[in-house]
Amino acid sequence: MERRPVIICILSLIGARPQFIKEAIVGAELRKAGIDEVLVNTGQHYDANMSDVFIEGLSIKTPDYNLGVGSGSHAYQTATTMLRLEEVVLKERPDMIMVYGDTNATVAGALVGSKLKIPVAHVEAGLRQHPKDMPEEINRVVTDHISSLLFCPTEKAVDNLEKEGITKGVHFVGDVMYDLFVKMRESLDISKTLSNYSLVREKYILATLHRDFNTDDRSRLKNILEAMNEVSKKIKVVLPIHPRTRKAISVNGYEDLTKDITILDPLPYSDMMSLLIGSKKVITDSGGLQKEAYFAGVPALVMMPDTGWIELVEADWNVLVDADKDLIIDKAFSHEAPANAPANLYGDGRAGKKIAEIIVGFQL
Ligand code: UD1
Repeated sequence: MERRPVIICILSLIGARPQFIKEAIVGAELRKAGIDEVLVNTGQHYDANMSDVFIEGLSIKTPDYNLGVGSGSHAYQTATTMLRLEEVVLKERPDMIMVYGDTNATVAGALVGSKLKIPVAHVEAGLRQHPKDMPEEINRVVTDHISSLLFCPTEKAVDNLEKEGITKGVHFVGDVMYDLFVKMRESLDISKTLSNYSLVREKYILATLHRDFNTDDRSRLKNILEAMNEVSKKIKVVLPIHPRTRKAISVNGYEDLTKDITILDPLPYSDMMSLLIGSKKVITDSGGLQKEAYFAGVPALVMMPDTGWIELVEADWNVLVDADKDLIIDKAFSHEAPANAPANLYGDGRAGKKIAEIIVGFQL
């Protein structure tokens, strides 16, 4: 006898910029597969250029609920999301809760689901990195250990889970961010976007900076800004700035350290990808951008002591520079992408479709 799907309604939780991007792919595939989706935005990112611009620009369905969580301590963000989400879950009674990535929204959603005995699906499961006490790492580990379906973007992520004894419900599907990149690439007008920002192809480095261990530590922030400013004297460094970084620069009075850097407001996805494709190199501490750089054929300097996307470092595509001023300056000029890049590290661009198929076939 054919088994009927048990997942008819899924509640997807988003809240921070990278989750809007992932939802753009997965939400569309779920709907295509005939699954109802209740979309909940925690409101962790509330500035229009950190949230609305993605929801509109990527044709994500309008969230059914906004929990209005906003900024605050980790406990505040996690606990407030839990309390407000629980009310929505009790009202909507979804068959499954879907969470993305490694933010406070991710762990909050997974905790609410598991406590209410609703299966949790984690998209981007199995990533691990040092330091173990970084908030995103804590969120990943907790979420993976209480999820029923674990969708891994890489084979390495599957191995990481196995080392922790997690084998049930684990699927290597590829990376949904790669799906989106492949889908959007054709529609980008790169020359036009570069000219809108007065940029010339390969004559600039694209940078981002927002990790708390870089922005909230005075001396690391100083090293990084000094390095970027120094590099800017020879090649333009374009920094679309995260609000937390703007605040940290102002609180520390570091404006002088940024005077040669080209600082922009946060960019919509399509502009960011156009600037990425046109760039010579990337300097970043973003988990997403270090990987999108590889999708775009651009090498990246990663300002972290370690990364969840270690396969790109092992392939010498990316290089870890931490917050080492001299190393950042050196590698900004010397690091080149290897001639033979590894292929298909992140799947075949159909991760979202595979996720939807597995959910349709899921049995409790
Ligand atoms: C969060 C995620 C991180 C993800 C990042 C993407 C956690 C623990 N971290 O970090 O994994 O890579 O989002 O951007 O969930 N702020 C604004 N406006 C906004 C959003 C933030 O002004 O729209 C300011 C607030 O002052 C806030 C600070 O930025 O306190 C940090 O925001 P928060 O959501 O706590 O963490 P992110 O650094 O954005």
